[in-house]
Amino acid sequence: MKVVKTKDYDDMSRKAANLIAAQVTMKPDCVLGLATGSSPIGTYKDLIARYNNGDLDFSKVTSVNLDEYKGLDGSHDQSYRYFMNHNLFDHVNIRKECTFVPDGTEPDADKACGAHDAIIEKVGGIDLQLLGLGHNGHIGFNEPTDHFPTGTHCVDLTESTIEANKRFFASADDVPKQAYTMGIQNIMLARKIVVVVSGADKADILKKVVEGPVTPQVPASILQLHPDVTIVADAAAAAKLD
Ligand code: GLP
Repeated sequence: MKVVKTKDYDDMSRKAANLIAAQVTMKPDCVLGLATGSSPIGTYKDLIARYNNGDLDFSKVTSVNLDEYKGLDGSHDQSYRYFMNHNLFDHVNIRKECTFVPDGTEPDADKACGAHDAIIEKVGGIDLQLLGLGHNGHIGFNEPTDHFPTGTHCVDLTESTIEANKRFFASADDVPKQAYTMGIQNIMLARKIVVVVSGADKADILKKVVEGPVTPQVPASILQLHPDVTIVADAAAAAKLD
């Protein structure tokens, strides 16, 4: 695991965007695994700026997203499809039909999750997976549990995740209680992984992820076993690392 310590959120975003830009430049028809949350927003802004400067071309890129709330339609402003359109896809020349987010409107979990796994396989796997980190160590919506889930699956969100995400909804009651998420195996099969971590409130969990034992109680700790992971953390998040 490589840890790149950066000054602040903007510096983190620029350095994560460097890695993604390098991927798209070296392999224009690459498959990007993308994430939502506040952590990657700056990275997406940076990528949009590079596209506007003429430095990046997304016309051959395919993207697959980590997760989606079950029950939310892509037009719902808290759906992850909406987030991706709003924060990246609408501002670059990626072909919308080549952007894949789990289908939150599909009530049949097996169908929705099977379809997402089939897409990942069909596009030839993920070249670079971008991740954020939940306060409890979750990646995507792989919450702490007693095993590492494999493929895309339906999860019950934990209280702490509902609590953390309620700021985006009118109230905690409005936060969906379930989500479809890629599993740990989907993530671990990505050829390269970049994790963006920002803020003092992530310092304790980042220390566990990087220096603690590999355990499904801290889902992101499994990244220690992946051969090509770069954690890009700002100073506040990295403050407790040895
Ligand atoms: C959400 C998402 C994750 C994200 C995490 C951290 O629950 N499902 O993919 O990484 O929370 O979010 P943030 O970056 O806003 O701290």
